[in-house]
Parts: sequence; C-alpha cells; structure tokens
Amino acid sequence: MGVIAHLKGLLIYYRMQIKEILGLTAAQQPITVKGWVRTKRNSAAVAFIAINDGSTINNIQAVVNEGSIPEETLKLVTTGACIAVNGILIPSQGQGQSVEVQVNSIEIYGAADPEKYPLQPKKHSLEFLREIGHLRPRTNTFSAILRIRHALAFAINTYFNDHGFFYLHTPIITGSDAEGAGEMFRVTTLPAINPPLTEDGKVDYKEDFFGKETNLTVSGQLEGELGALALSKIYTFGPTFRAENSNTTRHLAEFWMVEPEMAFFELTDNMNLAEDFTKFLIKYALDHCADDIAFLEKRLLEEEKMKKKEEQSELTLSEKLKFVTENTFERLTYTEAINILLQSKAHKQGKFNYPVAWGIDLQSEHERYLVEKHFKKPVILTHYPKEIKAFYMKQEVDGKTVRAMDVLFPGIGEIIGGSQREDDYEKLLQRTKEVGIEEESIWWYLQTRQFGSAPHSGFGLGFERLVLFVTGMSNIRDVIPFPRTPKTAEF
Ligand code: 4AD
Ligand code: MG
Repeated sequence: MGVIAHLKGLLIYYRMQIKEILGLTAAQQPITVKGWVRTKRNSAAVAFIAINDGSTINNIQAVVNEGSIPEETLKLVTTGACIAVNGILIPSQGQGQSVEVQVNSIEIYGAADPEKYPLQPKKHSLEFLREIGHLRPRTNTFSAILRIRHALAFAINTYFNDHGFFYLHTPIITGSDAEGAGEMFRVTTLPAINPPLTEDGKVDYKEDFFGKETNLTVSGQLEGELGALALSKIYTFGPTFRAENSNTTRHLAEFWMVEPEMAFFELTDNMNLAEDFTKFLIKYALDHCADDIAFLEKRLLEEEKMKKKEEQSELTLSEKLKFVTENTFERLTYTEAINILLQSKAHKQGKFNYPVAWGIDLQSEHERYLVEKHFKKPVILTHYPKEIKAFYMKQEVDGKTVRAMDVLFPGIGEIIGGSQREDDYEKLLQRTKEVGIEEESIWWYLQTRQFGSAPHSGFGLGFERLVLFVTGMSNIRDVIPFPRTPKTAEF
C-alpha cells in the first residue's frame, strides 16, 4: 500500500480502526483515522490531538505541524468533535505510544461547541453520567464496560455452542408468571380510559390483543424447559422484566438473563455446570479484555483510596477475578448456612439489619457475610425451604426443602438462581394449587410431566450482575447501556 502510494507520487489513505493501527509497526504508510476528539493540546508550533473511535480504550495521537492545516479547521477540533484525519503513520516522538499520525489534512464531520458539550476532559461523577446516557458511551469508563459486556455475551454463546447446547428464543410476551412473584409489566392494547368490562366489573381481557391477560416475561425458564425436554440441552439469553420496586444497586426493571436448561441433569450436575460456566466467562474476559480490565482496575484503585482504610478492598480487580477462577466454590445447604450465620459474631453483636432464623429469605448482607467473611470464596447454597422458592423446584424427601441452588459472589451476593425441576406430575400440580397458580395458565407446562417427563435442571445467571463483577463497578445502572429502574426510562 505504501509502495503504490510513493510510486505514483500521491498518497492513497487507507482507513483502519484505531485498535488495528496501534498494533502496526510504523512503516510510514498513509492512513486515515476517524473518531471523536478526546483532547487537543498545543505546544510551541505543534498541536496534539488524541482521537478515540471506541475500538479500544487507547487513543491515537495525531500531530499537526503549524501551518499544515487551516486555522479555521483546527479551531473546530475540540473535545467531542468527530473528525477524519489523513496522515502518515510514524514512530512516536513522545512517550506513551509507539506510533502516531503526522497529519496532512482534517475533515470535520461534526463539531462540538466547547461551551455546551457536557463531557469535558475531566473526571465526571457516575451520577452525572447517568443523566447524559446518550453521551456516556464516549467516556473511557463506559466504553470499557460496553466492550467487556460484548465480550461476555459472545463468550456465553461460545461456551454453550461448544458444549452442545441450542440457543432457544423464548417469548418476551407471556401469559404466565414463572417466578410467581407477581412483579410483572402488563402488555395490553386496551384503552387506559373506559376499557371493556366483564359483567362483574373487571377489565375484560378477552377483548384484549391476545384475548387474555399478558405481560412481559420475568424469565424464559418455563418455555426453556419445553425446549430441554426435546433438545436435551438449551439456553435462552434475552431481556427479562421485573416490576419490583427495589431501588438497589443490584436490581434493574429490565435486565438480561442467561438460562440454560438440561434434561437428565440433577442438582449436582447443575452446580458443576454453573461453576464451570462462570469460571469460563471470567477467564474469557481476563484473556480478551486485558486493556479494559486494566483501565477499570486503575479506576477502582483510585476509588478505593477515597474510602476508609478498613473498608478498602484487599484485592485488585484482576486479583478478584482470578480468585474466582482459581478457587473451588464452597457448597453447602441453606440449613448449614443459617447455622453459620447464627453463630457469627455479626449476628451475636446485632450487626445484621435483618434477623436470622431458619425459614427466612437470605438478605444480601447475609449472603455477603458467607462469601466475603466466612468462606472467602464463591458459595453455592442448596436445599432452601420450599416456602421461599418458586413452585417448579423439585421437592426433597424431607418434605421441607427443595433442590434449589443459589450461587453467591463477593461484592454481589446472588448472581445465579437455579434448581432441579419437579418432574412428578402429581407433586407439581399439588404445588401449583398450594401457591395459587391457575392450571389454565400453565396447562402446557404441566403436560410435559404427563408425557415423557424426565429429570431436568437449569439456572438463571443475571447478566448485569456478572458484568458488575467483572468490571468492578458498584451500581448495576452503570453496566447496561440504557438502564430501566423505577422512575427512569430516559434514552
Ligand atoms: O433467581 P431468579 O429470580 O431465578 C429465575 O428467574 C429462574 N427462573 C432462573 C432459572 O432457573 N432458569 O433470577 C435469576 C438471576 C438472579 O440470580 C440474579 O442474578 C438475576 O437473575 N436477577 C436480577 N438482575 C438484575 N435485576 C433484577 N431485578 C434481577 N432479578 C434477578
Ligand atoms: Mg433468586
């Protein structure tokens, strides 16, 4: 390419993404860079422009010699502007990069008025960046998170494909409540004012679009089971919706869930898969997102320094990630966990905000105590009381517990929830009645236990909780491009 250009005495510029360019050895080739200006600084007769196109956390430096570019054009090169630069790739004169571009011409695609552009080259708070969700992907922090998010999504499909799973697309609109928690967003085309009513004055959903009451799915599991009972191993990976009004750093109203479902898997097989799968994903990120993780690690270190000494984390981000990939997850029953909590100093000194007793739903503080203080590694809890778990879980012979499993992570708490499924028709029917699920709404689910039922298991991994863990961020709103939480659905 360079040879042809020199032969003809004119330069043919070749556009490449910054990630590719930074991997080149500078051979004086003509090159085009397109991207957004991060900074421009002037020194004597030279201007330095840092350009980023999102392909990597790293910028490329463009060097403009005085007089080579019209003054009016250079004036428009300000933070946030989108430009195309033609120039020659040369070994860098300065430190911090091996190559840079000696600029011959600049085209301004879109200027960004420095008086008005909200993203100035300084540290902005995450809260402020949430208010400018349309621009925050242009920051180092968010572009790093988005690239890691992509890599993890890709790794999920890779893992399952390589292990004989089929990607099953389960519906977003459903007529059932898989988790039985009643935290659903209704889907309707009926008018909000004066909807059609039944004789006893209730909204008549027979008149609605689907001829029945429908909502956005809280989980693809029930349909996933139908797939597993035909294809043996499937997974769903899609958006799920929960109208729970919990304004926490770990809950979203719209989040992505990964749900594998496997015929002929019992609880232990399910645990083995969950452990192997999460370790693979974290290792994949460590192997493929080194620059972004290194950037976030530095960011986290600075944030840790602001904290009190005793609250600072002992491990860096990559150490935390390796800690998970290199440790065996601790497995114990819910009952054993309750006993550990009851004997803990934290409980005896009244440090927990929520009481501990057999039968309670574990709070995040309890989960984190087990993981961070007691075992100091990821934990899988099994055999929860049936009253606090969903109707579809396989009942244990003790009559009190179900074959549930929750995987708990440091800093996160529950990252995976799953179980072996009840495959006995009578027991399942009985349980649906006990918890008040109408048979008509899931007759098809029940029927799989009448025709060719099989032992089977599955789990749901909260994708954003995984991204939260891998990026070391602390608020789930910062690991999804456009978060949906109570009272926020901007962008
Ligand atoms: O434990 P959950 O509710 O399990 C299920 O929905 C099962 N149907 C999964 C299955 O067995 N196929 O949710 C699974 C995971 C949780 O462990 C958590 O990581 C995540 O989904 N999750 C949320 N993530 C973000 N925001 C929320 N509101 C979440 N609710 C659950
Ligand atoms: Mg759960």
